[in-house]
This record gives sequence, structure tokens and C-alpha cells, in this order.
Amino acid sequence: AFEAKTLLSRAGMVTLDPGFANTAACQSKITYIDGEAGILRYRGYPIQELAAGSSFLEVAYLLIHGELPGPGELKEFTEQLRANAALPVEMRAMIDALPRDGHPMILLGAAVNTMAAFYADTTDPDDSDQVDRATMLLLAQLPTVAARIYRNSAGEQPLEPDHSLGYVEDFVRMTFGGDSGSRELDELYAKAMDLLLILHADHEQNCSTATVRVVGSSQASLYGSVSAGINALFGPLHGGANQAVLEMLEEIRGLGGDVDSFLAKVKDKESGTRLMGFGHRVYKNFDPRSKEIKELAAQILHRQEQPDELFELALRLEGRALADSYFTDRKLYPNVDFYSGVIYRAMGFPTSMFTVLFALGRLPGWIAHWREQRLDPAARIARPRQLYVGPAQRSYNG
Ligand code: ACO
Repeated sequence: AFEAKTLLSRAGMVTLDPGFANTAACQSKITYIDGEAGILRYRGYPIQELAAGSSFLEVAYLLIHGELPGPGELKEFTEQLRANAALPVEMRAMIDALPRDGHPMILLGAAVNTMAAFYADTTDPDDSDQVDRATMLLLAQLPTVAARIYRNSAGEQPLEPDHSLGYVEDFVRMTFGGDSGSRELDELYAKAMDLLLILHADHEQNCSTATVRVVGSSQASLYGSVSAGINALFGPLHGGANQAVLEMLEEIRGLGGDVDSFLAKVKDKESGTRLMGFGHRVYKNFDPRSKEIKELAAQILHRQEQPDELFELALRLEGRALADSYFTDRKLYPNVDFYSGVIYRAMGFPTSMFTVLFALGRLPGWIAHWREQRLDPAARIARPRQLYVGPAQRSYNG
């Protein structure tokens, strides 16, 4: 305690705030959240309105540039993205050489990091033309990279972009080959994917976005910062949660669908088991994105001939948890990830791709924050303090 006080007196006021739960590290104009009221707005627009009426590319433009695009601007933005979607031959070879059984998030982070080498003339954070070019290349190529990683892992020949298709539509085609056999189903899946990407596009200072800002604060390139964000997102308490939800549902199915004994295990703190897809650092009443996703899940899964066992299980689990004071007392409600995995699974994605889809959605948010920080005159290199509680001085010589 003496050492900590000494540090305090030299450093001025240092607040111990584990997980930065009460520390604002920046001012931002991008996303507004009121966790108590369950409000989420991008650049002032309620998420529900954007979910109902906009497209992912409109939202990406809005987050990055601050205003919705006019029709001409959206057309130009879309055309530029499509024109830049193909990867350089050497980058394709590099992705193809990565271990095919490696987790797609590890491969995605690695591939994005190397973009700083493939596009070395777009890495100067002080040059706004280079930053615009890096923004365009990342948005244009992340779906191509993600689809290639998926095809390699599935032992299928990677597919090149088809510039005549829409951004999301082409990602779905590059992933699955576009032969579901039903045009209506392809369209529904592209629409569902578009909505999921919108709902994941930004969430102010979450772990991965804060990481992108911290790395960017040292004037690292946009690619390096986004690659770090991808790695932060991969953690099971953040973006890895949608994969963990599916694994949890499979486990409960293995228990014969016994939801109650699973919840009993969760409530036993000794077990170390959490109800994945429940709880949020900020939302303490409901997650405004979870309602949209639950509706989408119902729309997609009710098209199947057989009722979806895992979706039915998730509905039952949610119902039982929300009637249990363990969860309501702690203000634990379903978050954005509770139902998204069930939808991705119905579309045919393996669980290991779920977090990659989250990364595709979160990319415009990461870019918007990195760019905002770059232009913020108050921005400084991120360098938190600590309270030292280790040994006092001792001698190596005994
Ligand atoms: N299941 C069971 N108990 C939980 C859960 C859960 N999912 N989440 C929190 N709790 C309990 C904690 O054990 C703690 O109980 P206590 O007061 O008796 O000690 C209390 O609720 C508060 O929990 P914290 O860990 O302090 O909450 P925090 O805000 O730090 O964590 C988090 C938020 C990480 C999201 C947590 O709720 C969690 O682990 N959820 C499951 C993982 C998940 O779904 N993550 C996705 C988040 S959304 C996203 O990244 C897009």
C-alpha cells in the first residue's frame, strides 16, 4: 500500500478502474448507447430504423463519413468496393499457404496484417489519400479474404469475386458457390446477412474497437490496427461468444435438452460455466439488437421443413433464464450473440466462421474509430497507468 501511495503522489490522481468500466478514453461522434434504456444509434440514427430500411454499405458509409450517402455517392462507393474486391495473386498464394485447419479468425488477422506489406504505399496515417485508399481496400477485400479462408478450410476451390453482384450477395456466393438451388433462399440469406452485418457494425468502445484505437494511437497503420482488433474480437468473451452459444446449445442437446440442469450448473459459480449469449457490460435491461435478431431467426428457421432443434432449445433456455431471479437480479438478458449463431448455422456456416462474420460487420466501425482518432487534436498515445502492488525494493545479492 505504501508503494501505491508513493506512485499516486508522484503521478497525480490515478484511478484504479479494472476493465476501464468507468473510464472514457476519448470523445466520439460515431455511436450513442444508453445501456439502461437499451438505445443504440449510429451517428444519431436509431438502429431499428437502419435495420428496417438501410443496407450494410449505406451504414458503412454513414459510420465512416458521418452522413448517409446520397444515391450517387452510394453508387460510386459500391462500384469502387466492387472494383477493388480481387486480391493480388501473391496474397492469394499467401492465404492458400496458411494452415487449412487453423481457426479462420487467426488466418483472417494474419492476412489483414500482411495487407500493410502488399499495399505498403497506403500505410501512412498522416496522408489522408493513403488512409482513404486503405479504407477502400480493407472494406473491398475482407469478404474476399474471409470467403477464401472458408473455402480452403472446407477443401473447396476458392472463388474469385464477381463484380456484377452486390457486396453481401457476392460474399455469400464466394463462400457457398451460389448453388443453394433456390434463388428465393439465396436472396433471403443475403438479406439476413446484410441485416446481421448492420447490427454488428459498431458498438463504441467495445474491446476490439478500443484495441483498434489503442494500436492506432501509436500511429500504427490502419491494417495493423484492424488486425489487432480481429484478434481481440476472437476472444470468447467478445466476438467468440456466438460460437460459444452454439457449442453450449449442442452441449444441452447432448444432455437430452435438459435446460434446467444446465442453468443449475451456470448458477453454481464453482462450475465456471456461463450462460453464453447472456449479459453485457453496457446493456443492463435488454440489448436492442437482440430483438431484431430473434425475429430474423424466426423468419429463417420457420422456412425449414423440420423445426430447428437448437432454435427451439434457445427459445426455451431464454424463457427459463428470464424467469429466474439469478439472471434478473444481475440484469442478465440475451445479447446480440444469443440468436445470431443459430441463423448462421441454418445458412450453412460452420461455427468457426461465426466470428469472422462478426468481423465483417464490425469493420466499418473499427475504421470509423481509427479515422476519428487520427483527426482528433486531443488524441494522444494510449498509455494507461497502474497501481503497483508487487514487492518493495529487494536486493538481487540477498
Ligand atoms: N452467465 C452467468 N452469470 C453471469 C453471466 C453469464 N453469461 N454474465 C455475468 N454473470 C454474473 C457474474 O458471475 C457476476 O455475478 P456475481 O455478481 O454474483 O459475481 C455478475 O453476473 C456480473 O458479471 P460481470 O462478469 O461483472 O459482468 P461484466 O460486465 O464484466 O461482463 C460479459 C459482461 C463479459 C458480457 C458477461 O456477461 C459474459 O461473460 N457473458 C457471456 C459471454 C457473452 O455472451 N459475451 C458477448 C458479449 S456481447 C459482445 O461482445 C458482442
